[in-house]
Amino acid sequence: MISFSVAIDPNKGIGYRNVLPWHIREELQVFKRNTLFKNIVMGQTTFDNLPGKLKDRYITVVSLDPDYHPENVEVYHDLIGFLEEHENDEEEYIICGGASIFRQAYPYARKAYVSFIKKEYDVDTYFDVFDLKDWEIVEEEDHEEFVYRLLKRKENV
Ligand SMILES: NC(=O)c1ccc[n+]([C@@H]2O[C@H](COP(=O)([O-])OP(=O)(O)OC[C@H]3O[C@@H](n4cnc5c(N)ncnc54)[C@H](OP(=O)(O)O)[C@@H]3O)[C@@H](O)[C@H]2O)c1
Repeated sequence: MISFSVAIDPNKGIGYRNVLPWHIREELQVFKRNTLFKNIVMGQTTFDNLPGKLKDRYITVVSLDPDYHPENVEVYHDLIGFLEEHENDEEEYIICGGASIFRQAYPYARKAYVSFIKKEYDVDTYFDVFDLKDWEIVEEEDHEEFVYRLLKRKENV
């Protein structure tokens, strides 16, 4: 199964100058809770700009560059091939961005972990295809700076 984890602002903004536009410790804790000991998948730009190491997660990085070989992670050169290979697996693969990876993976995802950031931020990167109408809300938690929702894809969307 393919899912994704994202934090998104009211304008669907997700990034600024290759990093997150905000510093919200509680949101990072939600991300950790949802991804710990799971398979996570991210684009080369997101991986290379992580502020620290993500411990205790099985990381796959996608890159089109055949010479890209960072340490301690799997590298995959064909994101669509990866999604098609794993979309019917029982095991979950959580897409963790960034924008180009979310856009390509969106049609494959059946589940989503989404933090809706309350404030508007300066952003230069968007998850423009995300539409809450495609999803049923399974769980909801209100936090000071964001609302976290666990989402399940509606049938036939
Ligand atoms: N708010 C959030 O939850 C969240 C989460 C994650 C990231 N972000 C933000 O998103 C921004 C980065 O997004 P981005 O779109 O610039 O970069 P990205 O999606 O992280 O990575 C793009 C790279 O992925 C590789 N790629 C793309 N399509 C591929 C495919 N079909 N097969 C294999 N590899 C493929 C390419 O790597 P090569 O160039 O090596 O070929 C491409 O340059 C940052 O600002 C980051 O902070 C936000």
